[in-house]
Amino acid sequence: MARDQFADYDRRDFLRIVASGAALLALAPLAAGAQPAGGAPLKIGMVGSGREGGALGTAFVKAGHQVMFSSRHPEQLKGLVDGLGPRAQAGTVEQAIAFGDVVAIVVPYTAMEQIGKDYGAALAKKALVLDVSNPIARRDGEDLAKWVEQQGGAGLATAKLLPGAHIVRAFNGIGYMKLSAEAHRPGEPLAVPIAGDDQNALAIASNLIRQIGFEPVVVGGLAMGKYLAPGSPLWGEHTSAEIRQIVAGLH
Ligand SMILES: NC(=O)c1ccc[n+]([C@@H]2O[C@H](COP(=O)([O-])OP(=O)(O)OC[C@H]3O[C@@H](n4cnc5c(N)ncnc54)[C@H](OP(=O)(O)O)[C@@H]3O)[C@@H](O)[C@H]2O)c1
Repeated sequence: MARDQFADYDRRDFLRIVASGAALLALAPLAAGAQPAGGAPLKIGMVGSGREGGALGTAFVKAGHQVMFSSRHPEQLKGLVDGLGPRAQAGTVEQAIAFGDVVAIVVPYTAMEQIGKDYGAALAKKALVLDVSNPIARRDGEDLAKWVEQQGGAGLATAKLLPGAHIVRAFNGIGYMKLSAEAHRPGEPLAVPIAGDDQNALAIASNLIRQIGFEPVVVGGLAMGKYLAPGSPLWGEHTSAEIRQIVAGLH
């Protein structure tokens, strides 16, 4: 029998999410071509507010969400949040995770293990954990890259480091400058391939992606997360039709 889809969330998270428009989408699969819901804003915690995390969090603020950017030195985020207005604030990593209905993790992949140890239990209660982080051998080391490969790629590796979290890999191949330059572009939107095993998390992620001006394309479960990493044919900028064509060629 199907498990209660909200059984893993604590009551406070559940109520806050159900109160939002996004939750209505989360309760049922998104219909093809569905428009982004207006709905109430979500609270989004950014773990990692550097180039990519800063740009993504900025896009969420512009779409009307409340965002807590985090750093191990939150005072250094003053310039970023002051420029974004009252929907943006800065905090520690712990505060951002406590704040978010949704948490985006946008850190060097080397930090993921410690984040899992320190905050894994809290992250497992979130409706969605966006995994934007990429394992990159030249930056993160050959050993880590090899370990990730042994787990079956970045999606399954992140699931191992964040047990129980409702993970969706997303935005892994879109550079931080493109996030602002290509959002809501005229004509066909730039697509964002996403991978995850949890239908509610995928629905919330899809809604967020549409709200910030891109088109989500679910390419499969977390096992497909290995293709949402540097060097993959899905890397870089594609339309949704191009992504579907590439994915068809992967099978
Ligand atoms: N740059 C891109 O265009 C792009 C595109 C797609 C995906 N990505 C991926 O996104 C991730 C971040 O890349 P980036 O270019 O944004 O890097 P970045 O500018 O160097 O920012 C890294 C962020 O991670 C935080 N961080 C580092 N170690 C941490 C830890 N142990 N605990 C908590 N936070 C920690 C840093 O916060 P502190 O202030 O505490 O140091 C900083 O905010 C990488 O995995 C990258 O592959 C990047």
